[in-house]
Amino acid sequence: MKINHQHFETLNSTQSYLKEALENNVYQDAFNLISADRQTDGYGRQGRKWNSEHRGLFMSFTLRPNEILTLTSLEIAVLVSHFFREKFQLVIYLKWPNDLIYQDGKCGGILLQTFNNQVIIGIGLNFSDSYRALSSEKFEISPNSLPLTPDSTKDLCLETYRFIAGSRLSSSEIIDQFSNLCVHIDKRCSISQGEDVFEGIFLGCGKNGEAVMQTNDGTNKTFFSGTLRYS
Ligand code: BTN
Repeated sequence: MKINHQHFETLNSTQSYLKEALENNVYQDAFNLISADRQTDGYGRQGRKWNSEHRGLFMSFTLRPNEILTLTSLEIAVLVSHFFREKFQLVIYLKWPNDLIYQDGKCGGILLQTFNNQVIIGIGLNFSDSYRALSSEKFEISPNSLPLTPDSTKDLCLETYRFIAGSRLSSSEIIDQFSNLCVHIDKRCSISQGEDVFEGIFLGCGKNGEAVMQTNDGTNKTFFSGTLRYS
């Protein structure tokens, strides 16, 4: 697999950079990866700022979407977790729809944007919350568990991409493996959509990746978007 990889010390956003390059037909290859040690203007889902100044992996790449487009970001989250377990014996859990969880804190997330017949996937992984990067939750992936130098960060981004592109999952594998890694499976949770908040037990994902929750009146409700909280 031939990968066009460009790594930067500092970039505004790997996602904006790759999207703009694709819009301007700069790349002709199928596999394109942009990574950076630091981003000055990284962003996450719903346009939220993504702090990316300190100890982390920040990358964006092109990929063929899963046959069910809405399963693609769940698939990437599952594969990122597999990769870190295989390489570093680090266990990264998942929160619906595509948050990466370490020691009860959000350590990363996946962003998906469509572009022609491909998707642009952004992965942000912060190894420490010491810059209040993500939330008030505390976590630290210590340098002992994840030994990295500035040089190896670039290689690790490439290795992560290779692993993902070479380990694609079927729809049923994604749904099963997401359930196995999900931190809130069978737990009480709430899903907010704007002003509306729904409470119940998270049962798993439907065939399109939607959240299935048993609400307090005993009926099942499905959610295609929203912010999930669990206790
Ligand atoms: C989320 O909101 O949970 C997804 C965050 C995705 C952040 C990554 S960091 C690399 C890439 N570049 C960006 O500007 N965003 C994504």
